[in-house]
Amino acid sequence: MNAKQAGRIVVLGTGGTIAGRAQQAGDNVGYVAGQVRVADLVSAVPGLAGIALEVEQVAQVDSKDMSLAVWQALVRRVSIHLQNPEVSAVVVTHGTDTLEETAFLLQRVLQPAKPVVLTCAMRPASALVPDGPQNLSDAVAVAQRAGGGVVVVCAGQVHGAWDVAKVHTYRLDAFDSGDAGPLACVEESELRSFRPWPVTPPGGTQDAELLDRFLAAETLPRVDILTSHADADGGLVEALMARKTDRPLRGIVVAGTGNGTIHGALASALDAAQVQGVRVVVGTRCARGRVVPHAGLAFADSAGLSPVKARLALALELLMD
Ligand code: SIN
Repeated sequence: MNAKQAGRIVVLGTGGTIAGRAQQAGDNVGYVAGQVRVADLVSAVPGLAGIALEVEQVAQVDSKDMSLAVWQALVRRVSIHLQNPEVSAVVVTHGTDTLEETAFLLQRVLQPAKPVVLTCAMRPASALVPDGPQNLSDAVAVAQRAGGGVVVVCAGQVHGAWDVAKVHTYRLDAFDSGDAGPLACVEESELRSFRPWPVTPPGGTQDAELLDRFLAAETLPRVDILTSHADADGGLVEALMARKTDRPLRGIVVAGTGNGTIHGALASALDAAQVQGVRVVVGTRCARGRVVPHAGLAFADSAGLSPVKARLALALELLMD
């Protein structure tokens, strides 16, 4: 794991807090994301100077506004660079807010044999003590040393695309891999692994048809997320079903209580939607654990994916229909 990979590393910028700027250096929350060019982020890290890097700005967005168009541009550029034999790995700078969705998407659609390392920051580039430069330096170190697949590097930890989730609004170590734990940590540019590298995680194989359809899609099949809670009813499901739109509802992911249980009134409405052809998948609103499959489940379970990742997984599945 510590042998350096030869070849160029491509650093793709997409925006986020790592590229954010505030009016005052002490302001860690009142900034605008996606302001500093990725070339400037790279040149602000002296340790990267001697490394063969190629830098490209793919987008400049606050990742809360992530769109299909930006995802398509990113997937296309990552795919093209990975096919180049002179490129050994790709690093992507990204906002923290939807980082886990982009990591999941890249892993699901590309299943890369080379490392694809996403990194981010919780403090803007203009902060008194920005965390982006260290995260970027660590991400490049991981890209030089890691096995294949998509991982996220933040605050000295390396997380797998399937497990990673943002779990904190403000702390620098904002990411967690739940029960699975991080894959490794980065210490002075060296990797200390905790568990095997998930080159091919469960639930996907490289699928050229999926990649083609994803890149050609004008929209993704509509899948919405609902949460089951005390005093819930079926009103939102009925409203979604009744909505007249050129992007009709194809699926619903429910963040269920506990082990994927759903309020009876909401479950009845979901049953009715399923009868009308809407796919229903149940995850859990619990921060830890997965829905443990059992005979009593009325709907498909999310196979351990969080609701936001299950939404994307179902949309990609429906894209193949
Ligand atoms: C974003 O997700 O683009 C903004 C927030 C962040 O990067 O922490």
